[in-house]
Amino acid sequence: MTAGDSAPRLCVIPGDGIGREVVPVAVEVLRAALPGLACEEAEAGWECFRARGKAVPAQTLDAVRRCGAALFGATASPGYKVPGYRSAVLELRQRLGLYANIRPVASRPGVSPRGGVDLVVVRENTEDLYAGRESREGNTAVAQRVITAAASRRIAQAAMRLAVQRGARKITIVHKANVLPLTDGLFRDSVRDVIAAWPGGPGIEVEECYVDVAALRVVAAPESFDVVVTTNLFGDILSDAAAHWGGGLGVAPSLNLGEPVAIAEPVHGSAPDIAGTGAANPTAAILSVALLAEHVWQRPYVARRIEHAITAALAGGAHQRPPVLASVRAAVLSHLESGIPEHANR
Ligand code: IPM
Ligand code: MN
Repeated sequence: MTAGDSAPRLCVIPGDGIGREVVPVAVEVLRAALPGLACEEAEAGWECFRARGKAVPAQTLDAVRRCGAALFGATASPGYKVPGYRSAVLELRQRLGLYANIRPVASRPGVSPRGGVDLVVVRENTEDLYAGRESREGNTAVAQRVITAAASRRIAQAAMRLAVQRGARKITIVHKANVLPLTDGLFRDSVRDVIAAWPGGPGIEVEECYVDVAALRVVAAPESFDVVVTTNLFGDILSDAAAHWGGGLGVAPSLNLGEPVAIAEPVHGSAPDIAGTGAANPTAAILSVALLAEHVWQRPYVARRIEHAITAALAGGAHQRPPVLASVRAAVLSHLESGIPEHANR
Protein backbone atom coordinates (compact mmCIF):
# COMPACT_ATOMS: atom_id res chain seq x y z
CA MET A 1 0.00 0.00 0.00
CA THR A 2 1.03 3.58 -0.66
CA ALA A 3 2.95 5.18 2.17
CA GLY A 4 0.93 7.61 4.25
CA ASP A 5 3.52 10.38 4.18
CA SER A 6 3.74 10.97 0.39
CA ALA A 7 1.36 13.60 -1.04
CA PRO A 8 -1.81 11.81 -2.15
CA ARG A 9 -2.56 11.76 -5.88
CA LEU A 10 -5.91 10.86 -7.37
CA CYS A 11 -6.69 9.82 -10.91
CA VAL A 12 -10.25 11.00 -11.59
CA ILE A 13 -12.24 8.84 -14.03
CA PRO A 14 -15.86 10.03 -14.26
CA GLY A 15 -16.94 7.33 -16.78
CA ASP A 16 -20.54 7.39 -18.02
CA GLY A 17 -23.97 8.65 -16.96
CA ILE A 18 -24.27 9.82 -13.36
CA GLY A 19 -20.58 8.98 -12.87
CA ARG A 20 -19.91 12.37 -14.50
CA GLU A 21 -22.06 14.06 -11.87
CA VAL A 22 -21.18 12.26 -8.64
CA VAL A 23 -17.42 12.12 -9.26
CA PRO A 24 -16.84 15.91 -9.36
CA VAL A 25 -18.80 16.25 -6.11
CA ALA A 26 -16.78 13.50 -4.40
CA VAL A 27 -13.53 15.12 -5.57
CA GLU A 28 -14.65 18.50 -4.24
CA VAL A 29 -15.46 16.98 -0.85
CA LEU A 30 -12.15 15.11 -0.79
CA ARG A 31 -10.22 18.28 -1.63
CA ALA A 32 -11.95 20.06 1.23
CA ALA A 33 -10.97 17.29 3.65
CA LEU A 34 -7.50 16.71 2.20
CA PRO A 35 -6.15 20.06 0.91
CA GLY A 36 -2.82 18.70 -0.41
CA LEU A 37 -4.53 16.37 -2.91
CA ALA A 38 -3.25 16.42 -6.51
CA CYS A 39 -5.68 15.30 -9.24
CA GLU A 40 -5.34 14.13 -12.81
CA GLU A 41 -8.32 13.31 -15.06
CA ALA A 42 -8.58 10.24 -17.31
CA GLU A 43 -11.17 8.57 -19.54
CA ALA A 44 -12.81 5.13 -19.47
CA GLY A 45 -16.20 3.60 -20.18
CA TRP A 46 -18.70 3.03 -22.94
CA GLU A 47 -18.66 6.61 -24.26
CA CYS A 48 -14.88 6.42 -24.33
CA PHE A 49 -15.13 3.14 -26.28
CA ARG A 50 -17.46 4.74 -28.80
CA ALA A 51 -15.24 7.79 -29.20
CA ARG A 52 -11.82 6.14 -29.09
CA GLY A 53 -12.40 2.42 -29.77
CA LYS A 54 -11.16 1.44 -26.30
CA ALA A 55 -13.08 1.27 -23.02
CA VAL A 56 -9.83 1.73 -21.11
CA PRO A 57 -7.12 3.51 -23.13
CA ALA A 58 -3.47 2.83 -22.30
CA GLN A 59 -3.10 6.45 -21.11
CA THR A 60 -5.74 5.79 -18.47
CA LEU A 61 -3.91 2.73 -17.15
CA ASP A 62 -0.70 4.78 -17.05
CA ALA A 63 -2.45 7.61 -15.20
CA VAL A 64 -3.87 5.25 -12.56
CA ARG A 65 -0.46 3.62 -12.08
CA ARG A 66 1.20 7.02 -11.81
CA CYS A 67 -1.26 8.22 -9.16
CA GLY A 68 -1.57 4.91 -7.30
CA ALA A 69 -5.20 5.73 -6.53
CA ALA A 70 -8.26 6.48 -8.64
CA LEU A 71 -11.95 7.23 -8.35
CA PHE A 72 -14.05 5.61 -11.07
CA GLY A 73 -17.64 6.85 -11.43
CA ALA A 74 -19.70 4.35 -13.39
CA THR A 75 -19.80 2.62 -16.72
CA ALA A 76 -22.70 2.11 -19.08
CA SER A 77 -22.90 -1.27 -20.78
CA PRO A 78 -24.71 -2.11 -23.99
CA GLY A 79 -26.23 -5.37 -22.56
CA TYR A 80 -25.35 -7.30 -25.72
CA LYS A 81 -22.02 -8.49 -27.06
CA VAL A 82 -20.08 -5.78 -28.86
CA PRO A 83 -16.89 -7.01 -30.54
CA GLY A 84 -13.83 -5.66 -28.74
CA TYR A 85 -15.81 -4.20 -25.84
CA ARG A 86 -15.58 -5.33 -22.25
CA SER A 87 -16.95 -3.41 -19.27
CA ALA A 88 -14.39 -0.75 -18.35
CA VAL A 89 -14.52 -1.58 -14.68
CA LEU A 90 -13.79 -5.25 -15.33
CA GLU A 91 -10.90 -4.30 -17.56
CA LEU A 92 -9.47 -1.95 -14.94
CA ARG A 93 -9.71 -4.68 -12.27
CA GLN A 94 -8.01 -7.26 -14.50
CA ARG A 95 -5.35 -5.06 -16.05
CA LEU A 96 -4.32 -3.46 -12.76
CA GLY A 97 -4.51 -6.63 -10.66
CA LEU A 98 -7.13 -5.18 -8.29
CA TYR A 99 -7.60 -8.45 -6.49
CA ALA A 100 -9.82 -7.42 -3.58
CA ASN A 101 -13.13 -5.59 -3.58
CA ILE A 102 -13.92 -4.12 -0.19
CA ARG A 103 -17.63 -3.35 0.27
CA PRO A 104 -18.63 -2.06 3.68
CA VAL A 105 -22.29 -1.69 4.67
CA ALA A 106 -23.27 0.12 7.86
CA SER A 107 -26.61 1.36 9.17
CA ARG A 108 -26.94 5.12 8.73
CA PRO A 109 -29.58 7.24 10.42
CA GLY A 110 -31.89 8.81 7.86
CA VAL A 111 -31.34 6.22 5.12
CA SER A 112 -31.11 2.73 6.66
CA PRO A 113 -34.23 0.64 7.18
CA ARG A 114 -32.76 -0.48 10.51
CA GLY A 115 -29.85 0.07 12.89
CA GLY A 116 -27.24 -2.43 14.06
CA VAL A 117 -25.78 -3.48 10.69
CA ASP A 118 -22.01 -3.12 10.33
CA LEU A 119 -20.47 -5.58 7.92
CA VAL A 120 -17.96 -5.67 5.10
CA VAL A 121 -17.97 -7.98 2.11
CA VAL A 122 -14.44 -8.79 0.94
CA ARG A 123 -14.95 -10.02 -2.58
CA GLU A 124 -12.33 -11.74 -4.74
CA ASN A 125 -12.14 -9.45 -7.75
CA THR A 126 -10.30 -11.08 -10.65
CA GLU A 127 -11.45 -14.64 -11.31
CA ASP A 128 -14.44 -16.97 -10.80
CA LEU A 129 -17.10 -16.51 -13.53
CA TYR A 130 -15.56 -13.10 -14.21
CA ALA A 131 -12.49 -14.69 -15.79
CA GLY A 132 -14.08 -13.97 -19.19
CA ARG A 133 -13.90 -17.58 -20.40
CA GLU A 134 -17.26 -17.99 -22.09
CA SER A 135 -18.04 -19.84 -25.26
CA ARG A 136 -21.02 -20.96 -27.27
CA GLU A 137 -21.55 -23.80 -29.68
CA GLY A 138 -24.99 -23.87 -31.21
CA ASN A 139 -27.50 -23.87 -28.41
CA THR A 140 -25.03 -24.65 -25.67
CA ALA A 141 -23.09 -21.90 -23.93
CA VAL A 142 -20.42 -22.53 -21.31
CA ALA A 143 -18.72 -20.25 -18.80
CA GLN A 144 -15.63 -21.44 -16.94
CA ARG A 145 -15.43 -20.70 -13.25
CA VAL A 146 -11.76 -20.17 -12.49
CA ILE A 147 -10.56 -20.45 -8.89
CA THR A 148 -6.88 -20.52 -7.98
CA ALA A 149 -5.19 -21.13 -4.65
CA ALA A 150 -3.07 -18.01 -5.15
CA ALA A 151 -6.03 -15.64 -5.60
CA SER A 152 -7.98 -17.34 -2.81
CA ARG A 153 -5.05 -16.97 -0.41
CA ARG A 154 -4.56 -13.35 -1.42
CA ILE A 155 -8.20 -12.44 -0.75
CA ALA A 156 -8.06 -14.29 2.57
CA GLN A 157 -5.04 -12.23 3.57
CA ALA A 158 -6.81 -9.01 2.60
CA ALA A 159 -9.86 -10.06 4.62
CA MET A 160 -7.78 -10.92 7.68
CA ARG A 161 -5.84 -7.64 7.52
CA LEU A 162 -9.14 -5.79 7.36
CA ALA A 163 -10.60 -7.86 10.21
CA VAL A 164 -7.65 -6.96 12.41
CA GLN A 165 -7.86 -3.30 11.41
CA ARG A 166 -11.56 -3.00 12.25
CA GLY A 167 -11.32 -5.10 15.41
CA ALA A 168 -13.77 -7.59 13.91
CA ARG A 169 -15.38 -10.22 16.11
CA LYS A 170 -15.97 -12.72 13.34
CA ILE A 171 -15.03 -13.73 9.81
CA THR A 172 -17.42 -15.72 7.63
CA ILE A 173 -16.15 -17.76 4.68
CA VAL A 174 -18.97 -17.93 2.12
CA HIS A 175 -18.86 -20.65 -0.55
CA LYS A 176 -20.81 -23.46 -2.19
CA ALA A 177 -18.37 -26.34 -1.76
CA ASN A 178 -21.20 -28.86 -1.41
CA VAL A 179 -22.01 -28.44 -5.11
CA LEU A 180 -18.63 -27.18 -6.35
CA PRO A 181 -16.17 -29.29 -4.35
CA LEU A 182 -13.20 -28.62 -6.64
CA THR A 183 -13.52 -24.87 -7.21
CA ASP A 184 -15.15 -23.76 -3.98
CA GLY A 185 -13.40 -26.54 -2.09
CA LEU A 186 -10.10 -25.00 -3.19
CA PHE A 187 -11.31 -21.54 -2.22
CA ARG A 188 -12.51 -22.69 1.20
CA ASP A 189 -9.35 -24.70 1.96
CA SER A 190 -7.06 -21.85 0.88
CA VAL A 191 -8.91 -19.34 3.06
CA ARG A 192 -8.94 -21.77 5.99
CA ASP A 193 -5.16 -22.26 5.62
CA VAL A 194 -4.44 -18.53 5.65
CA ILE A 195 -6.59 -17.99 8.73
CA ALA A 196 -5.12 -21.00 10.55
CA ALA A 197 -1.57 -19.77 9.88
CA TRP A 198 -2.34 -16.16 10.86
CA PRO A 199 0.48 -14.85 13.07
CA GLY A 200 -0.64 -15.06 16.69
CA GLY A 201 -3.81 -16.95 15.67
CA PRO A 202 -6.92 -15.42 14.12
CA GLY A 203 -8.12 -14.07 17.47
CA ILE A 204 -11.68 -13.95 16.12
CA GLU A 205 -14.50 -16.38 15.50
CA VAL A 206 -14.24 -18.16 12.14
CA GLU A 207 -17.41 -19.54 10.56
CA GLU A 208 -18.39 -20.97 7.19
CA CYS A 209 -21.67 -20.47 5.42
CA TYR A 210 -23.09 -21.76 2.12
CA VAL A 211 -23.95 -18.88 -0.16
CA ASP A 212 -27.68 -19.63 -0.25
CA VAL A 213 -27.88 -19.56 3.54
CA ALA A 214 -25.71 -16.43 3.52
CA ALA A 215 -28.25 -14.76 1.20
CA LEU A 216 -31.04 -15.56 3.65
CA ARG A 217 -28.97 -14.22 6.53
CA VAL A 218 -28.20 -11.00 4.67
CA VAL A 219 -31.94 -10.51 4.33
CA ALA A 220 -33.12 -11.75 7.73
CA ALA A 221 -30.18 -11.27 10.10
CA PRO A 222 -27.63 -8.87 8.58
CA GLU A 223 -26.24 -7.99 12.02
CA SER A 224 -24.98 -11.60 12.27
CA PHE A 225 -22.17 -10.74 9.83
CA ASP A 226 -18.97 -8.81 10.43
CA VAL A 227 -16.29 -9.64 7.82
CA VAL A 228 -17.49 -11.81 4.92
CA VAL A 229 -14.89 -13.27 2.55
CA THR A 230 -16.10 -14.85 -0.67
CA THR A 231 -15.61 -15.44 -4.38
CA ASN A 232 -16.29 -12.88 -7.08
CA LEU A 233 -19.89 -13.52 -8.19
CA PHE A 234 -21.18 -14.45 -4.74
CA GLY A 235 -19.62 -11.25 -3.42
CA ASP A 236 -21.18 -9.23 -6.23
CA ILE A 237 -24.67 -10.48 -5.37
CA LEU A 238 -24.38 -10.51 -1.58
CA SER A 239 -22.93 -7.00 -1.47
CA ASP A 240 -25.83 -5.56 -3.49
CA ALA A 241 -28.34 -7.29 -1.21
CA ALA A 242 -26.50 -6.13 1.92
CA ALA A 243 -26.37 -2.57 0.55
CA HIS A 244 -30.11 -2.37 1.19
CA TRP A 245 -29.40 -2.13 4.94
CA GLY A 246 -26.98 0.75 4.45
CA GLY A 247 -29.59 2.77 2.57
CA GLY A 248 -29.40 1.26 -0.92
CA LEU A 249 -27.09 1.50 -3.88
CA GLY A 250 -26.97 5.31 -3.85
CA VAL A 251 -25.10 5.03 -0.57
CA ALA A 252 -22.92 1.92 -1.13
CA PRO A 253 -19.17 2.51 -1.54
CA SER A 254 -16.44 0.13 -2.66
CA LEU A 255 -12.70 -0.07 -3.00
CA ASN A 256 -10.92 -2.19 -5.59
CA LEU A 257 -7.62 -2.91 -3.94
CA GLY A 258 -4.39 -4.10 -5.54
CA GLU A 259 -0.68 -3.65 -4.99
CA PRO A 260 0.25 -0.85 -5.36
CA VAL A 261 -2.84 0.55 -7.08
CA ALA A 262 -6.42 0.99 -5.83
CA ILE A 263 -9.62 2.27 -7.41
CA ALA A 264 -12.55 3.58 -5.38
CA GLU A 265 -15.90 3.06 -7.03
CA PRO A 266 -19.51 3.63 -6.01
CA VAL A 267 -21.33 0.29 -6.28
CA HIS A 268 -24.14 1.83 -8.35
CA GLY A 269 -24.17 1.94 -12.14
CA SER A 270 -24.43 4.81 -14.63
CA ALA A 271 -28.23 5.18 -14.09
CA PRO A 272 -28.99 6.62 -17.56
CA ASP A 273 -32.63 7.16 -16.50
CA ILE A 274 -31.65 9.92 -14.06
CA ALA A 275 -28.41 11.15 -15.65
CA GLY A 276 -28.52 14.90 -16.22
CA THR A 277 -31.51 15.47 -13.92
CA GLY A 278 -29.57 16.29 -10.74
CA ALA A 279 -31.31 13.40 -8.96
CA ALA A 280 -28.13 11.32 -8.49
CA ASN A 281 -27.01 10.81 -4.91
CA PRO A 282 -23.24 11.47 -4.58
CA THR A 283 -23.04 9.69 -1.19
CA ALA A 284 -21.66 6.39 -2.54
CA ALA A 285 -18.92 8.20 -4.46
CA ILE A 286 -18.05 10.35 -1.43
CA LEU A 287 -17.87 7.33 0.89
CA SER A 288 -15.72 5.58 -1.73
CA VAL A 289 -13.05 8.29 -1.57
CA ALA A 290 -13.15 7.97 2.22
CA LEU A 291 -12.12 4.34 1.69
CA LEU A 292 -9.07 5.55 -0.23
CA ALA A 293 -8.16 7.87 2.64
CA GLU A 294 -8.51 5.02 5.10
CA HIS A 295 -6.92 2.09 3.28
CA VAL A 296 -4.56 3.60 0.72
CA TRP A 297 -3.37 6.95 2.01
CA GLN A 298 -3.41 5.84 5.65
CA ARG A 299 -5.35 8.94 6.69
CA PRO A 300 -8.05 7.48 8.94
CA TYR A 301 -8.81 10.93 10.34
CA VAL A 302 -9.72 12.21 6.86
CA ALA A 303 -11.97 9.17 6.36
CA ARG A 304 -13.70 9.77 9.72
CA ARG A 305 -14.28 13.44 8.90
CA ILE A 306 -15.88 12.61 5.55
CA GLU A 307 -18.01 9.83 7.06
CA HIS A 308 -19.13 12.10 9.84
CA ALA A 309 -20.13 14.83 7.37
CA ILE A 310 -22.09 12.26 5.33
CA THR A 311 -23.82 10.88 8.42
CA ALA A 312 -24.85 14.39 9.48
CA ALA A 313 -26.02 15.33 5.95
CA LEU A 314 -28.18 12.21 5.60
CA ALA A 315 -29.54 12.43 9.14
CA GLY A 316 -30.63 15.96 8.19
CA GLY A 317 -32.48 14.63 5.14
CA ALA A 318 -30.26 16.21 2.43
CA HIS A 319 -30.86 13.18 0.18
CA GLN A 320 -34.61 13.87 0.27
CA ARG A 321 -34.41 17.47 -0.93
CA PRO A 322 -34.36 17.76 -4.71
CA PRO A 323 -32.10 18.30 -6.51
CA VAL A 324 -30.39 15.56 -4.48
CA LEU A 325 -26.93 15.99 -6.02
CA ALA A 326 -26.75 19.66 -5.04
CA SER A 327 -28.41 19.21 -1.63
CA VAL A 328 -26.08 16.43 -0.50
CA ARG A 329 -23.06 18.32 -1.82
CA ALA A 330 -23.96 21.49 0.07
CA ALA A 331 -24.81 19.67 3.30
CA VAL A 332 -21.63 17.57 3.28
CA LEU A 333 -19.38 20.56 2.57
CA SER A 334 -20.99 22.56 5.33
CA HIS A 335 -20.72 19.70 7.87
CA LEU A 336 -17.07 19.21 6.87
CA GLU A 337 -16.43 22.84 7.71
CA SER A 338 -18.06 22.60 11.11
CA GLY A 339 -15.72 19.69 11.93
CA ILE A 340 -16.02 16.45 13.79
CA PRO A 341 -17.12 16.29 17.43
CA GLU A 342 -14.78 14.47 19.87
CA HIS A 343 -17.22 11.63 20.52
CA ALA A 344 -17.49 10.84 16.79
CA ASN A 345 -13.90 9.54 16.70
CA ARG A 346 -13.88 5.78 16.53
C1 IPM B 1 -20.14 -4.18 -9.54
C2 IPM B 1 -20.85 -4.22 -10.86
C3 IPM B 1 -19.93 -4.87 -11.88
C4 IPM B 1 -19.67 -6.28 -11.42
C5 IPM B 1 -20.46 -4.84 -13.33
C6 IPM B 1 -20.77 -3.43 -13.78
C7 IPM B 1 -19.51 -5.49 -14.30
O1 IPM B 1 -22.05 -4.90 -10.76
O2 IPM B 1 -19.14 -3.48 -9.41
O3 IPM B 1 -20.58 -4.87 -8.63
O4 IPM B 1 -20.46 -7.18 -11.71
O5 IPM B 1 -18.67 -6.48 -10.74
MN1 MN C 1 -22.51 -5.59 -8.73
